[in-house]
Amino acid sequence: MRAEDIRRNFLSFFAERQHQVVPSASLIPADATVMFAVAGMVQFAPYFLGSPAPHPRAASIQKCMRAGGKLNDLEEVGHTPIHHTFFEMAGNFSFGDYFKPDAIRFAWDLLTGPFGIDPDRIWVTVHVSDDEAEQIWREQIGLAAAKINRLDKENFWSMGGAGPCGPSSEIFVDRGPDYGPAREQGPLDDERRYPEVWNLVFMQYTQDDDGNITGELARKGIDTGMGFERMASVLQDVPTNYDTDVFVPIMQRAEQITGARRDGPEAEQRLLKILSDHARSLTFLVADGVMPSNEGRGYVLRRILRRAVTKARLAGVTDPVLAELCKVVVDLFGSAYPEVMRERRSIVEIASLEEQRFARTLEAGLSLLQAELQTAGGVLPGQVAFRLHDTYGFPLEITQDVAKDHGIEVDQPGFEAAMLEQRERSRADTHAGKAGDVRTLDIDLPPAEFVGFEGLEADTRVLAVLQDLRAVSAAPEGQEAELVLDATPFYPEGGGQVGDRGWIQGGEGSADVLDSRRHAGVIVLRVRVTSGRLQPGDDVRAIVDPRHRAGAEQAHTATHMLHHVLRESLGEHVRQMGSLVEPGRLRFDFSHFSGLTPDQLAEIEELINTRVEDDDGVRWFETGYREAVEELGAMHFFEEKYGDVVRVVEVGDYSRELCGGTHVRQTGRIGLVKVLGEGSIGSNLRRVQALTGTDGLRWVNERLRQAERAAELARVSPEQLASGVERLLATQKDLQKALEAQERDRVQAAVEQLIPTARTAGSGRLVSARRSEDSGTLRKVAVAVRDRLDRCVVILGSAGEGGANIVAAASPSLVSEGLDVRAILRPAAAHIGGGAGGKENLASAGGRNTAGLDEALAAAAAEAEGVLSA
Ligand code: SER
Repeated sequence: MRAEDIRRNFLSFFAERQHQVVPSASLIPADATVMFAVAGMVQFAPYFLGSPAPHPRAASIQKCMRAGGKLNDLEEVGHTPIHHTFFEMAGNFSFGDYFKPDAIRFAWDLLTGPFGIDPDRIWVTVHVSDDEAEQIWREQIGLAAAKINRLDKENFWSMGGAGPCGPSSEIFVDRGPDYGPAREQGPLDDERRYPEVWNLVFMQYTQDDDGNITGELARKGIDTGMGFERMASVLQDVPTNYDTDVFVPIMQRAEQITGARRDGPEAEQRLLKILSDHARSLTFLVADGVMPSNEGRGYVLRRILRRAVTKARLAGVTDPVLAELCKVVVDLFGSAYPEVMRERRSIVEIASLEEQRFARTLEAGLSLLQAELQTAGGVLPGQVAFRLHDTYGFPLEITQDVAKDHGIEVDQPGFEAAMLEQRERSRADTHAGKAGDVRTLDIDLPPAEFVGFEGLEADTRVLAVLQDLRAVSAAPEGQEAELVLDATPFYPEGGGQVGDRGWIQGGEGSADVLDSRRHAGVIVLRVRVTSGRLQPGDDVRAIVDPRHRAGAEQAHTATHMLHHVLRESLGEHVRQMGSLVEPGRLRFDFSHFSGLTPDQLAEIEELINTRVEDDDGVRWFETGYREAVEELGAMHFFEEKYGDVVRVVEVGDYSRELCGGTHVRQTGRIGLVKVLGEGSIGSNLRRVQALTGTDGLRWVNERLRQAERAAELARVSPEQLASGVERLLATQKDLQKALEAQERDRVQAAVEQLIPTARTAGSGRLVSARRSEDSGTLRKVAVAVRDRLDRCVVILGSAGEGGANIVAAASPSLVSEGLDVRAILRPAAAHIGGGAGGKENLASAGGRNTAGLDEALAAAAAEAEGVLSA
C-alpha cells in the first residue's frame, strides 16, 4: 500500500462513518499555545474546550513537528526506527459526539479490515484507572487479557502545556520474529518488534501549563493519532520508517551525495536518517513561512538545518547536501501538500544559502571545539559553548552533540549564565536610549477614545494638562505641554504609523498639536500653546492637519500593497517584520533570504503603481480574531498583541490585514509609489524604502535636476548623459595611459644616462647624482638602475617646491651581507633638515632645506663608499 493509498484509505474509512475530512492545518498554530502543530488535535483544541465545532466528527492527515517545543524528538532522530522531527499524523476526532466504544471499534475495524492486519498481532495499553477501556477491548472487541497492559503516565496524553487532555489507549503491532524474539509483555520491552502505531485519547480534562488537572471538559471527546510513517512501515512490510516510500527517494539521494550507505555501518545509517528527516522538516517549515532566525520557530529551523550540516561535515562530506535533498522532498510531497510545491524556489534557496553561510564558520568552529575537547577534563566550559554560539553560530545542542561523541558534557548552567549576561548587556544598551518612554502618568484617566476613523475634527474637552507626564493646572501661551482629551481625532502613533498633528481651538486659548501617542492606555498629545491658556475642563475643537493625515494614509495603504506585491513576486514566505509610515514616506522590513535585483525592484514598483491606477476601494471593519484570521485569512503577524475584536483592512480583493491604522479610501489617492531602494538589515531581513504621492514626485524631479546639471557639465543633452560620461571616462583613460607612457620613457632615459656613471667603490659599485625628477619618479629610477647593476648602491636626489628628496637603493647581495641604506642616508638627512626612513634595500630622506642637497648627496656617497670599502 503506497503512502497515498494509506492516506486515502484512512480518510475514506472515516468519511464513510460521517467524519468531515479536514485538510492539514499549518505547522504554525493559529493561537500560540504551542510552538508547532505537535499532533492532529492542535487545530481542533478550541472545540474540545467549548467553542462550537462546525461538525461533530472530523478526520485529517496533519503535518506535525516535534522539535524545539515541549514535545521534542530532535535528539532521538537517527537513533530509533520510529522518531522524527517532522511527520504526518492521521487522526479521527469527536467533539462531544462518540466516545470510547466507537473510537476503539473504529480503530480496530480499520486495522483489521482495510489495512489487513492479523488481529492476533495487535496489542494495546490502557490507563491504570481506565477499567472501562479495558472492558471494551476485552468484551466488545474480544482481545485477550494477556494482550492488554495497564500503564500510568504513558497512557495519559496532553499537548505538553495548557489544553485539553485525558487518558489514552495505545495500539501496537507485533511485527513478528524477524524483528526479535517474542516478549511476554509485548510492547513494554521492545519498540522494534512491537511499534506503537496508534494512540486513542479520551479527552476528558483540562490542564494548566504545569500539567495540573484544572477541570473536566464540558464536552468529552476523542482525539486519535495514527503515526503515518510507522503505519506505512508495517503496511509496506519494511524494517523502519526510513524504508517506506515517504523516505526512500530522500535516503537514496543522501547516499549519492554523502557516499554513506543504507546497509552500511550504524554511523552511516544514522547520518542518512538524520539528513532525510531534517530535510523534510526544513522543507515543510519553510513552506509554512518559517525563516531561519535567532529566535522562536526560526531558531528551531536553524538548529535543525545546522545539525544536519554539522553531521554531514563531521562525516567528511564536503559537498552541499540540503538543497539537493529538499528538491527530492518537494517532488515527493508536492502533490499531497500544494504549499510545498508553491514554495519550491524559496525552500531550495534558503536551504542552499543557509548551508553555505553556516559552512563558512563551521570549520573554524569545529576546529576550536575539537581543540577545546582535547583539553576539557570531562566537562566543556560554558564560556566555550557560548563563544561557539556567539561567534560561530553553533546552537548549544550541536556543541553538546559533538561533545557527547567524545564522552564530554557541556557546562550548561555556565553557557546559560554567559547568554544571560549578554542579554542583560544588550538590554542595558537599548534601555539607555529610551528612558523617556517608560515613564507612567501620575494621574488616573479613562482609557483613550479615538474618534479619528470617522472624521478629522471633533468637539471635545480637555481632561488633563501635563508637563513631562505630570498633571499641572494649566499651560500658558508659548509653552509646550501634553494634553489628554476626552475623545480625540488625533491618531496616536502605532502599528508603524506616526502620530497625527493639527490644532486645538478653545474659548480660552489655542495650541498646535505636534505629536500624538499612547501612554499607559491614554492618548497624549504634545502641544505648543499659541495663544491664551489651556486647562482641564476647557471645551475645545480638535482639528487634525488633513495634509499630514492624508500623507500618512497614502503611505500606510501603500505599505499593505507593497506587502502583498512582495509576497506575490517573491513568495509566501515574505512576512512583515516591522514598518514605519510617515506622510509621504514608508519603510517596510520583511523576511527574505537574498537581496532583490534592480529588475525585481522595478517590477515590484510597477506592480504597485498598476494597482494604484486600478483605484481599488479600501475597506475596514471590526470582527472577531478567529473570523478574521481563519475565515477571512487576514494576515496577522503580531498575534499576541491582538485582543478578541480586531480591525481588518482590505485593499481591493487582494490584501487583507489586521491593522489599527488609517488608510485612504481608494488606492488612486496614493498617486504614485516611488521605490527608493532595498537593503539588508540582518540575517534574512530586508528593508524597502519608498515615497508616495507628491513626495515621490519631488524626489524624482530632484534626481532629474541632478541629471540635467551633470549633462550640462558633460556638454551633452540629458538623454545622452550616459554615453557622454562614458566618452569622458574613455578620454580620461587614454590620457592616463599617455601619461604613464611618458613616465616610463622618462625613467628609461634617466636610467640610460646614469648606468655609465657607475663607479667602483670598494667591493661594489656606486651611482650617485643630483636629478630633476620628482620623488616618485626618482624612486623608480633608483630601483631600475639598481636592478641593472650587480652589487651596487644608488643614491639620487632632487629639489623641488616641496623640499629636497634623496632616495637610496641597494642590490640584494649587499643587503644580505648586512648593508642597510637607511644607515647610509642618516648623515645625509641632517643636511637637508629632515629624517630618513624605509627598508634596508630601499629608503628615502626628505627635508625643507634644498640648499643642503649637494652636501647631503656627497655625505651619502661618502658613507656608502666607506661601507663598501670596509
Ligand atoms: N494527540 C495524541 C497524540 O499525539 C493522539 O492524536 O498522540
